[in-house]
Amino acid sequence: MKEYVYKDYKALCSSVADQIVKQLIIKPNSLITIAGGNTPIGVFSALVDLAESQEVDYSKVKFLSLDEWVSLDGKTKGSCRQTLDEFLFCPLKLKENQVIFFDGDADNLTNECNRIDQALEEAGGIDLIILGIGMNGHLGFNEPNIITQKSSIVKLAPVTKAVMGKYFEKEVSLTHGVTLGYDQILGAKQIILMASGAPKKEVIKQLYSQKISYEMPATLLKSKSKCSLYLDVAAKGENEKN
Ligand code: GLP
Repeated sequence: MKEYVYKDYKALCSSVADQIVKQLIIKPNSLITIAGGNTPIGVFSALVDLAESQEVDYSKVKFLSLDEWVSLDGKTKGSCRQTLDEFLFCPLKLKENQVIFFDGDADNLTNECNRIDQALEEAGGIDLIILGIGMNGHLGFNEPNIITQKSSIVKLAPVTKAVMGKYFEKEVSLTHGVTLGYDQILGAKQIILMASGAPKKEVIKQLYSQKISYEMPATLLKSKSKCSLYLDVAAKGENEKN
Protein backbone atom coordinates (compact mmCIF):
# COMPACT_ATOMS: atom_id res chain seq x y z
CA MET A 1 0.00 0.00 0.00
CA LYS A 2 1.47 3.35 -1.01
CA GLU A 3 0.90 6.37 1.17
CA TYR A 4 0.39 10.04 0.32
CA VAL A 5 0.07 12.73 2.98
CA TYR A 6 -1.33 16.20 2.22
CA LYS A 7 -1.08 19.39 4.18
CA ASP A 8 -4.85 19.75 4.57
CA TYR A 9 -8.25 18.37 3.57
CA LYS A 10 -8.49 20.57 0.47
CA ALA A 11 -5.18 19.34 -0.93
CA LEU A 12 -6.11 15.75 -0.10
CA CYS A 13 -9.46 16.02 -1.92
CA SER A 14 -7.95 17.78 -4.90
CA SER A 15 -5.42 14.98 -5.33
CA VAL A 16 -8.07 12.25 -5.11
CA ALA A 17 -10.22 14.16 -7.63
CA ASP A 18 -7.20 14.27 -9.98
CA GLN A 19 -6.92 10.48 -9.76
CA ILE A 20 -10.58 10.11 -10.73
CA VAL A 21 -10.16 12.46 -13.68
CA LYS A 22 -7.03 10.55 -14.79
CA GLN A 23 -9.03 7.33 -14.66
CA LEU A 24 -11.77 8.88 -16.83
CA ILE A 25 -9.23 10.12 -19.36
CA ILE A 26 -7.71 6.62 -19.66
CA LYS A 27 -11.12 4.90 -19.69
CA PRO A 28 -14.18 7.14 -20.13
CA ASN A 29 -16.56 4.22 -19.52
CA SER A 30 -15.03 3.32 -16.15
CA LEU A 31 -17.04 1.86 -13.32
CA ILE A 32 -16.26 3.96 -10.25
CA THR A 33 -17.33 3.46 -6.65
CA ILE A 34 -17.10 6.25 -4.08
CA ALA A 35 -18.02 5.85 -0.42
CA GLY A 36 -20.80 7.89 1.12
CA GLY A 37 -19.97 9.52 4.43
CA ASN A 38 -18.31 12.85 5.01
CA THR A 39 -14.73 12.20 3.93
CA PRO A 40 -15.22 12.29 0.14
CA ILE A 41 -17.47 15.38 0.11
CA GLY A 42 -14.52 17.65 -0.69
CA VAL A 43 -13.60 15.33 -3.57
CA PHE A 44 -17.06 15.86 -5.03
CA SER A 45 -16.75 19.63 -5.05
CA ALA A 46 -13.24 19.37 -6.55
CA LEU A 47 -14.64 17.11 -9.29
CA VAL A 48 -17.49 19.48 -10.00
CA ASP A 49 -15.04 22.41 -10.22
CA LEU A 50 -12.81 20.39 -12.58
CA ALA A 51 -15.81 19.45 -14.71
CA GLU A 52 -16.52 23.15 -15.20
CA SER A 53 -12.94 24.12 -15.98
CA GLN A 54 -11.70 21.09 -17.94
CA GLU A 55 -13.04 18.94 -20.69
CA VAL A 56 -13.79 15.79 -18.75
CA ASP A 57 -16.18 13.38 -20.40
CA TYR A 58 -18.70 12.19 -17.82
CA SER A 59 -21.12 10.80 -20.40
CA LYS A 60 -19.92 7.20 -20.28
CA VAL A 61 -18.84 6.68 -16.67
CA LYS A 62 -21.01 4.63 -14.32
CA PHE A 63 -21.01 4.96 -10.55
CA LEU A 64 -21.71 1.91 -8.42
CA SER A 65 -22.81 2.15 -4.83
CA LEU A 66 -20.50 1.02 -2.03
CA ASP A 67 -23.02 0.83 0.79
CA GLU A 68 -26.26 2.13 2.23
CA TRP A 69 -28.07 2.25 5.56
CA VAL A 70 -30.77 -0.42 5.69
CA SER A 71 -34.30 1.08 5.84
CA LEU A 72 -33.28 4.42 4.30
CA ASP A 73 -34.32 5.30 0.79
CA GLY A 74 -32.16 7.40 -1.48
CA LYS A 75 -34.14 10.57 -0.76
CA THR A 76 -33.50 10.55 2.98
CA LYS A 77 -31.12 13.34 3.88
CA GLY A 78 -27.88 11.77 5.07
CA SER A 79 -28.31 8.45 3.25
CA CYS A 80 -25.33 7.51 1.09
CA ARG A 81 -27.38 7.90 -2.10
CA GLN A 82 -28.74 11.30 -1.10
CA THR A 83 -25.23 12.53 -0.25
CA LEU A 84 -23.81 11.42 -3.58
CA ASP A 85 -26.86 12.79 -5.44
CA GLU A 86 -26.55 16.17 -3.76
CA PHE A 87 -22.80 16.64 -4.07
CA LEU A 88 -21.87 14.68 -7.18
CA PHE A 89 -24.45 13.03 -9.37
CA CYS A 90 -26.82 16.00 -9.68
CA PRO A 91 -24.12 18.69 -10.15
CA LEU A 92 -22.53 16.50 -12.85
CA LYS A 93 -25.98 16.04 -14.43
CA LEU A 94 -25.53 12.28 -14.72
CA LYS A 95 -28.28 10.25 -16.36
CA GLU A 96 -30.24 7.75 -14.31
CA ASN A 97 -28.59 4.75 -16.00
CA GLN A 98 -25.16 6.02 -14.94
CA VAL A 99 -25.88 5.38 -11.27
CA ILE A 100 -26.32 1.87 -9.86
CA PHE A 101 -27.13 2.14 -6.18
CA PHE A 102 -28.39 0.02 -3.30
CA ASP A 103 -31.91 0.93 -2.24
CA GLY A 104 -31.64 0.49 1.52
CA ASP A 105 -35.43 0.57 1.74
CA ALA A 106 -36.06 -2.19 -0.81
CA ASP A 107 -38.74 -4.75 0.21
CA ASN A 108 -36.40 -7.59 -0.56
CA LEU A 109 -32.81 -6.75 0.30
CA THR A 110 -31.51 -10.13 -0.85
CA ASN A 111 -32.83 -9.36 -4.33
CA GLU A 112 -31.28 -5.92 -4.04
CA CYS A 113 -27.89 -7.47 -3.26
CA ASN A 114 -28.28 -9.83 -6.23
CA ARG A 115 -29.13 -6.89 -8.50
CA ILE A 116 -25.96 -5.03 -7.49
CA ASP A 117 -23.81 -8.17 -7.79
CA GLN A 118 -25.15 -8.82 -11.27
CA ALA A 119 -24.56 -5.23 -12.40
CA LEU A 120 -21.01 -5.40 -11.10
CA GLU A 121 -20.36 -8.70 -12.82
CA GLU A 122 -21.78 -7.43 -16.12
CA ALA A 123 -19.53 -4.36 -15.92
CA GLY A 124 -16.47 -6.57 -15.42
CA GLY A 125 -15.54 -5.21 -11.99
CA ILE A 126 -14.77 -1.83 -10.48
CA ASP A 127 -12.05 0.24 -12.14
CA LEU A 128 -11.50 2.65 -9.26
CA ILE A 129 -12.88 2.61 -5.73
CA ILE A 130 -12.58 5.47 -3.25
CA LEU A 131 -13.06 4.25 0.30
CA GLY A 132 -13.42 5.96 3.64
CA ILE A 133 -12.57 4.28 6.92
CA GLY A 134 -14.93 3.71 9.83
CA MET A 135 -13.86 4.42 13.40
CA ASN A 136 -13.29 0.67 13.84
CA GLY A 137 -11.55 0.27 10.48
CA HIS A 138 -14.65 -0.86 8.61
CA LEU A 139 -14.75 -0.63 4.82
CA GLY A 140 -18.19 0.09 3.40
CA PHE A 141 -20.30 -1.57 6.08
CA ASN A 142 -17.98 -4.54 6.43
CA GLU A 143 -17.71 -4.45 10.20
CA PRO A 144 -14.91 -6.22 12.11
CA ASN A 145 -14.93 -10.02 12.02
CA ILE A 146 -17.74 -10.27 9.48
CA ILE A 147 -16.49 -12.02 6.37
CA THR A 148 -18.44 -11.12 3.24
CA GLN A 149 -17.68 -11.95 -0.36
CA LYS A 150 -20.44 -10.34 -2.41
CA SER A 151 -23.09 -7.78 -1.47
CA SER A 152 -24.35 -8.44 2.03
CA ILE A 153 -26.60 -7.17 4.77
CA VAL A 154 -24.48 -6.56 7.85
CA LYS A 155 -25.31 -5.76 11.47
CA LEU A 156 -23.84 -2.41 12.45
CA ALA A 157 -21.13 -2.40 15.10
CA PRO A 158 -21.77 -0.37 18.28
CA VAL A 159 -19.17 2.28 17.35
CA THR A 160 -20.80 2.79 13.93
CA LYS A 161 -24.15 3.32 15.63
CA ALA A 162 -22.55 5.68 18.12
CA VAL A 163 -21.23 8.02 15.40
CA MET A 164 -23.99 7.74 12.79
CA GLY A 165 -25.93 10.66 14.21
CA LYS A 166 -23.53 13.05 12.42
CA TYR A 167 -25.11 12.20 9.06
CA PHE A 168 -28.75 12.82 9.92
CA GLU A 169 -30.89 15.80 10.77
CA LYS A 170 -33.30 13.72 12.84
CA GLU A 171 -32.56 10.99 15.33
CA VAL A 172 -32.45 7.61 13.61
CA SER A 173 -32.40 4.09 14.92
CA LEU A 174 -30.53 2.05 12.34
CA THR A 175 -29.32 -1.47 12.95
CA HIS A 176 -27.97 -2.77 9.63
CA GLY A 177 -26.15 -1.70 6.50
CA VAL A 178 -26.02 -3.17 3.02
CA THR A 179 -22.58 -3.22 1.46
CA LEU A 180 -20.39 -4.54 -1.29
CA GLY A 181 -18.40 -7.53 -0.07
CA TYR A 182 -14.67 -7.95 0.31
CA ASP A 183 -14.16 -9.80 -2.98
CA GLN A 184 -15.79 -6.93 -4.83
CA ILE A 185 -13.97 -4.17 -2.96
CA LEU A 186 -10.55 -5.81 -2.99
CA GLY A 187 -11.12 -6.91 -6.59
CA ALA A 188 -11.23 -3.28 -7.78
CA LYS A 189 -8.42 -2.49 -10.21
CA GLN A 190 -7.35 0.58 -8.24
CA ILE A 191 -8.16 1.31 -4.59
CA ILE A 192 -7.83 4.60 -2.73
CA LEU A 193 -8.47 4.71 1.00
CA MET A 194 -9.01 8.25 2.28
CA ALA A 195 -8.86 9.58 5.83
CA SER A 196 -9.03 13.13 7.06
CA GLY A 197 -8.92 14.94 10.37
CA ALA A 198 -7.78 14.24 13.92
CA PRO A 199 -10.75 11.94 14.75
CA LYS A 200 -9.28 9.41 12.29
CA LYS A 201 -5.77 9.58 13.76
CA GLU A 202 -6.27 6.64 16.14
CA VAL A 203 -7.77 4.30 13.56
CA ILE A 204 -4.97 5.13 11.11
CA LYS A 205 -2.45 4.36 13.82
CA GLN A 206 -4.17 0.97 14.30
CA LEU A 207 -4.14 0.38 10.56
CA TYR A 208 -0.36 0.67 10.62
CA SER A 209 0.22 -1.33 13.78
CA GLN A 210 -2.26 -4.20 13.47
CA LYS A 211 -1.71 -7.39 11.56
CA ILE A 212 -3.76 -8.08 8.44
CA SER A 213 -7.06 -9.61 9.54
CA TYR A 214 -10.84 -9.25 9.34
CA GLU A 215 -10.67 -7.95 12.89
CA MET A 216 -9.61 -4.61 11.40
CA PRO A 217 -11.06 -4.60 7.87
CA ALA A 218 -8.85 -1.82 6.46
CA THR A 219 -5.72 -3.88 7.19
CA LEU A 220 -6.75 -6.15 4.29
CA LEU A 221 -5.65 -3.34 1.97
CA LYS A 222 -2.14 -3.21 3.37
CA SER A 223 -0.66 -5.98 1.23
CA LYS A 224 -2.10 -4.62 -2.01
CA SER A 225 0.21 -2.66 -4.31
CA LYS A 226 -2.84 -1.34 -6.20
CA CYS A 227 -4.05 0.30 -2.98
CA SER A 228 -3.03 3.80 -1.88
CA LEU A 229 -3.70 5.52 1.40
CA TYR A 230 -4.46 9.23 1.01
CA LEU A 231 -4.29 11.19 4.25
CA ASP A 232 -4.12 14.71 5.48
CA VAL A 233 -1.59 15.62 8.15
CA ALA A 234 -4.26 15.61 10.87
CA ALA A 235 -5.27 12.00 10.15
CA LYS A 236 -1.64 10.98 9.91
CA GLY A 237 -1.06 12.42 13.39
CA GLU A 238 1.86 10.96 15.20
CA ASN A 239 2.60 8.66 12.29
CA GLU A 240 3.80 11.74 10.42
CA LYS A 241 7.40 10.71 10.98
CA ASN A 242 6.95 7.25 9.31
C1 GLP B 1 -19.52 5.04 7.12
C2 GLP B 1 -19.72 4.31 5.79
C3 GLP B 1 -18.45 4.16 5.00
C4 GLP B 1 -17.62 5.40 5.23
C5 GLP B 1 -17.12 5.36 6.65
C6 GLP B 1 -16.43 6.64 7.07
O1 GLP B 1 -20.24 4.44 8.14
N1 GLP B 1 -20.28 3.02 5.96
O2 GLP B 1 -18.70 3.95 3.66
O3 GLP B 1 -16.53 5.40 4.36
O4 GLP B 1 -18.16 5.03 7.54
O5 GLP B 1 -17.33 7.69 7.09
P1 GLP B 1 -16.85 9.21 7.20
O6 GLP B 1 -16.13 9.53 5.96
O7 GLP B 1 -18.12 9.99 7.35
O8 GLP B 1 -15.98 9.29 8.40
